[in-house]
Amino acid sequence: MMAPLKIGTATLAHGLMLAPMAGVSDTSFRILCRRAGAEYTVSEMVSAKALCFEQKSRPSVPARTAPLAAITAEEAPMAVQLFGSEPDFMKEAAMLLESGQYKGAAGEVCPVAIDINMGCPVAKVAGNGEGSALMRDPRRAAAIVRAVKDAVRLPVTVKIRAGWDDNSKNAPEFAKRMEAAGADLITVHGRTRQQFYAPYSDNRVIAAVKQAVSIPVVGNGDLFCAADVARMREETGCDGVMIARGAMGNPFLFSEILAMDEGREYTPPTDRERIALALTHAADMVARKGERIGLAEARKHMLWYCKGLRGASVAREALTRAEGLEEIRAVFDTLLETNR
Ligand SMILES: Cc1cc2nc3c(=O)[nH]c(=O)nc-3n(C[C@H](O)[C@H](O)[C@H](O)COP(=O)(O)O)c2cc1C
Repeated sequence: MMAPLKIGTATLAHGLMLAPMAGVSDTSFRILCRRAGAEYTVSEMVSAKALCFEQKSRPSVPARTAPLAAITAEEAPMAVQLFGSEPDFMKEAAMLLESGQYKGAAGEVCPVAIDINMGCPVAKVAGNGEGSALMRDPRRAAAIVRAVKDAVRLPVTVKIRAGWDDNSKNAPEFAKRMEAAGADLITVHGRTRQQFYAPYSDNRVIAAVKQAVSIPVVGNGDLFCAADVARMREETGCDGVMIARGAMGNPFLFSEILAMDEGREYTPPTDRERIALALTHAADMVARKGERIGLAEARKHMLWYCKGLRGASVAREALTRAEGLEEIRAVFDTLLETNR
């Protein structure tokens, strides 16, 4: 049994976290994962600069960034993840989030921590010196952590990769530097920026970071079943695990891990249960985002839920054309019939 992981006011008995995923891990998804057993969630990445600028816009201009940081009671404990390259904006944004006093939905609950994105590989972000580019600029990265840490009482966590590329796998030294700058926890994705999501995430990097720092280390990368989690814990000694793609269309993964930890036999969901969850998911997205946006964004999730079922490719095509929840339900009915 592993020791509980403490992050501010949150105590995670199994150290089980849902990763931030822009465009995927919104409120609806985070709630489903929490219900399945995730003990902690993180917002989609939020631009610190956009959050700050938005506050200065006219009251009539709708807030588009702040809603990304809104937290409902059901998905807490949750951290809000900021990205940016300028310590002043990062600090101001973190202060806004901690105060809960800002334009645009502040949510029902305050964040339990501020997470700083130092892993995003996307050119639009890294090209601006943000996300994974900060791993090439440890001085700036440390200045950001220090500025945020000095400005808020909330714990400050940092999410990094193995490094920029194969020639600069600096995660252990970098993590040490973030610790010295005030970071309270480090999450490590065992790939370099150049690898994006290519196979494989390297647990040795996570182990090396764990050896290098005394703050808690959370391992991330390629956790698709409970056995992957057991292996990562064994190989790295990590204090927690964070799951991203493994939960797509499969929030049940968290139940599988809990069952392993509690020594219980795990019964995977039946096809009917899986599809019922997909429909609950789509309906919640439509309820929260409205028919047009909710449906458009729900589609990719629906495709993921079909994975592994007979006739999935036909269903996928029909789902891409489905115009409403009833049509989605009809596609799933046919799919279940095919799999009887
Ligand atoms: C669609 C998608 C969006 C992501 N968005 C974010 C993000 O906003 N912030 C972040 O730190 N990482 C983001 N990530 C990276 C994941 O949090 C995670 O580090 C990575 O996917 C490796 O974990 P996995 O192997 O479990 O997927 C994203 C990944 C995916 C697939």
